[in-house]
Amino acid sequence: RDAGMVLAVNAPSLEDVAGMSEGTILVSFLTPLTHTELVRALAEAKITGIAMELVPRITRAQSMDALSSQATVAGYKAVLLAADHLPKFLPMFTTAAGTIRPAKALILGAGVAGLQAIATARRLGAVVLAFDVRPAVKEQVESLGASFLEADEEVAAEGEGGYAKELSADQHEKELTLLAGAIADCDIVITTAQIPGRTAPLLVTEEMVESMRPGSVIVDLASESGGNCALTKSGETVLAHGVQILGPVNLATGIPVHASQMYSKNIVTLISEFIGEEGRVELDMENDVVGPSTVTHDGQVTNERVQNALSAS
Ligand code: NAI
Repeated sequence: RDAGMVLAVNAPSLEDVAGMSEGTILVSFLTPLTHTELVRALAEAKITGIAMELVPRITRAQSMDALSSQATVAGYKAVLLAADHLPKFLPMFTTAAGTIRPAKALILGAGVAGLQAIATARRLGAVVLAFDVRPAVKEQVESLGASFLEADEEVAAEGEGGYAKELSADQHEKELTLLAGAIADCDIVITTAQIPGRTAPLLVTEEMVESMRPGSVIVDLASESGGNCALTKSGETVLAHGVQILGPVNLATGIPVHASQMYSKNIVTLISEFIGEEGRVELDMENDVVGPSTVTHDGQVTNERVQNALSAS
């Protein structure tokens, strides 16, 4: 109750909010677009809520971008999980007992987590394919030593701010056809495709799972927002048609030292935006990072996207 500032990883419970004093600054992940009850409670309690997921993805704020730092951890860990569950080696081996062919991995969604998954799978020696609806990432995928899946007709949906937008039904069909052709021959599929504020797109159908070799592994990093695979169960491992489908939640906790190190660096850089000399708090809503990241201040919901989400709820 006496703390002027509360720094956390996850959003507080409504009970925790009730225990905070008016004017407290709270900095944590808040999922403000969907967690409307919490946003209302923060505003009513006159707590300044700063959401890590709303830190703008501008060059200046890269060191404060916890979505990226934690997605890096998740992409890396997803490959380790897949390798651990796969009854095969990932690299090619030439041994006295014969030549072992490398495993083939398909990474869907080449944002921060996807690019890290590609790099990690390549380091472990897998042959890597990838696909994303933002054509701009083809070059990044190839620079990591992976091949970009090419559709006969363009499948692309670049939205605002470098994010993807939802595909039209026709484009989605084309994407499914493209993926169906590639998935059957893959040992590992790691899916990371997300569209901000929407349910994750369905990319791996049950038919595609059925087409994979028994023993293959799918790791669905979008499991918490509905999943990219039709058979994913968030927080569980499903065995279907001989394929293991992992729907891990909060993968960053699997590499706690570096996840925490990066997150704390993100927080420290962010709060140094509004802590002035001698530790005085100087919140400036005109600041190009602090303004957009603030959800509630002085009893008001200050972020426009959150206001819209509240009126729609
Ligand atoms: P995200 O977590 O929202 O989505 C992951 C990936 O899924 C994205 O690459 C998206 O294009 C892809 N995706 C969506 N629908 C798909 C579909 N139907 N099929 C295949 N792929 C699909 O994205 P994330 O990782 O948060 O990054 C989004 C963008 O933000 C990237 O361009 C990234 O480079 C950029 N960014 C910029 C930063 C900066 O300039 N400071 C910092 C971090 C990210």
